[in-house]
Amino acid sequence: MNSTLLDSADSVLHHKPRAILSVLLGALLSGALCLTPSLVQAKQVTLNSPDNQIAVTITDDNARPQYQVSFNDKPVINLSELGLSFISIGELSDQFKLINTKTNSVNSQWQQPWGEQQWMQDHHNGVIATFSDGQYQFDVEFRAFNDGIGFRYHFPKQHQLTDLAINRELTTFAIPEPEKATSWWIPARGWNRYEYLYQKTPVLDIDRVHTPYTIKLDNGVHLSIHEAALTDYAAMTLDQRRGGILRADLTPWSDGVKVKTQAPFSSPWRTIQIAPKATGLLNSSLILNLNEPNKLGDVSWVEPGKYAGIWWGMHIGENTWGSGDKHGATTSETKRYMDFAAASGFIGVLVEGWNLGWDGSWFHNGDVFSFTQSYDDFDIKAVADYGKQLGVRLIGHHETSGSVTNYRKQMDDAYDLYEKNGVTQIKTGYVADGGDIKRVDENGIVRHEWHDGQFMVNEYLHSIEQAAKRKISINTHEPIKDTGLRRTYPNWISREGARGQEFNAWGTPPNNPSHTPTLAYTRMLAGPMDFTPGIFDLAPEGLDAVNRVQTTLMKQLALYVVLYSPIQMAADLPKNYAKYPDAFQFIKDVPTDWTTSIALQGEVGEYVVFARQERGGVSDGRDWYLGAITDDSQRTLTIDLDFLDKNTRYQAQIYRDGPDANWQSNPYDYIVETKHVTNADKLELPLATSGGAAIRFKAL
Ligand code: NOJ
Ligand code: CA
Repeated sequence: MNSTLLDSADSVLHHKPRAILSVLLGALLSGALCLTPSLVQAKQVTLNSPDNQIAVTITDDNARPQYQVSFNDKPVINLSELGLSFISIGELSDQFKLINTKTNSVNSQWQQPWGEQQWMQDHHNGVIATFSDGQYQFDVEFRAFNDGIGFRYHFPKQHQLTDLAINRELTTFAIPEPEKATSWWIPARGWNRYEYLYQKTPVLDIDRVHTPYTIKLDNGVHLSIHEAALTDYAAMTLDQRRGGILRADLTPWSDGVKVKTQAPFSSPWRTIQIAPKATGLLNSSLILNLNEPNKLGDVSWVEPGKYAGIWWGMHIGENTWGSGDKHGATTSETKRYMDFAAASGFIGVLVEGWNLGWDGSWFHNGDVFSFTQSYDDFDIKAVADYGKQLGVRLIGHHETSGSVTNYRKQMDDAYDLYEKNGVTQIKTGYVADGGDIKRVDENGIVRHEWHDGQFMVNEYLHSIEQAAKRKISINTHEPIKDTGLRRTYPNWISREGARGQEFNAWGTPPNNPSHTPTLAYTRMLAGPMDFTPGIFDLAPEGLDAVNRVQTTLMKQLALYVVLYSPIQMAADLPKNYAKYPDAFQFIKDVPTDWTTSIALQGEVGEYVVFARQERGGVSDGRDWYLGAITDDSQRTLTIDLDFLDKNTRYQAQIYRDGPDANWQSNPYDYIVETKHVTNADKLELPLATSGGAAIRFKAL
């Protein structure tokens, strides 16, 4: 049984066995012995990253499966638990021995159809460790990369077990010196899903947090705990038990079960990114490397680009989603936005509030929505045809308000309608309190689920798969967190999953100056975010108002480079862009698809500098772009331009805060200037409080 198990688990790997393990496996030599594991003396296997800086030790030393991780010989995860617990058969942990290991090694390249990096290097060493108590068995598959590790469980078919219910995952992450380790987090299982301001506290002070969970150990090493390839399973949150012991806490179904599954199954990957400094986390490709390759085949129809939309007007109260004098989604307004988008080189116009259901209290009652019937003043065919003439697409919108059964019932018709009208992107929304997604089960009973429980994990993916059949991409708001599934489903083009720009319109408090420099090192490690940057009227109700954007104008530009997404909104109203045409030029120019991305400098929550090289585009991939943002502190950064091509001269088009800029009272003071530079130069960039700088390096 054991060898069959390993063969099947291993068939997904490219074999290139290497001597990477120091295995102390006592009597463990043959498959026959696996059937009598009590004779096995154990005990541990060590897996090294290709550069040997990371070492993972997997052991059964304490008569149960455990692991620990070190970086440059210092512990980054102390001895921690492995195992699963099922309602029917109990905990698989105590008395489980390491009975077999199988190693492999991979060094290969793969290409992203779109992304922050075109070519990805997958270089890792792996081991599949089989644990058994003589009755049941399971595998833990580990991979060690130079930028961190991942592990997942494989549970084979055994003892005629079919339907299984997981009531607990036993995985823990033991953080060394938790009282001295700084961390950045948002709470898990809260009513506002992922839309919280980040807290910065010692690890010791956290309760239950979402991932990615970013940690700076006392010795300066940075970690981020997250997961990869979350499908048909509950999301993992982290619950602190005894000081520093973080348990994988799976978000439950409404009936309390964590995961409903069948043998055989594999869990998502539990991931730990490891870097000597903060920017190392941003330059890591661990999460994508642990996802399955593209399942959709030709995805040339997935189209990165910038978009405008009938959106911010509703958030600041100039328009309404519902019908009436201020209705935003009218045929004429959509055409006006399409003219603006065409003149700006954008690919589309998002229209929210076009479909019946927005009048009255949609907020807690998504059953009111029709996804096929429009208000009388919105003619979907007329706007789609108008856009076609201009080369601008209508971008679709479906707000479910968390009534997923209502959405499911209409999904085919709704996606067909969009497909018929040439719509290739839909923004979906699941506005509902955490734990309050409404579904009607197979017996007609209404249930309330979490956005990150297994039910919704599957529901979100169902929308992606149905959309893919029609060559439609999905931008999910109020989503399940990103775990890199864009590799497998490249039409999952972006998502929200954190506090976005919308909070600056009505959030109390709005996003603070350190919010985006924190997002870069937390939420963004998961994948693209539809943050919707580019607000130019920073305080529609005056600079003293509570609800305003707490940045300078230049920081809004820099966000296009810093916060990666293949689709980026120019979120403000066209009339506000008309006030600052020289600054708007950067939004027109900045690409959304990249050959290379490099995080150059930064500290979590304080500042970050990204350089990215355009993929294709007007420069045929020769131009570079840079974005730098800071928190409440002003700072002057010295940027070494050695990332630029050696043999090219560039015109640097620099958009930076002016000498008197500050976010509170003078956010519009800015300078646009040009300089000729080469890769031997350095640039001084002054950033105001909550300021930023954006640069296009135009290849000459
Ligand atoms: C929440 C989304 O995040 C926001 O962008 C959208 O405008 C509203 N839902 C209404 O659908
Ligand atoms: Ca939202």
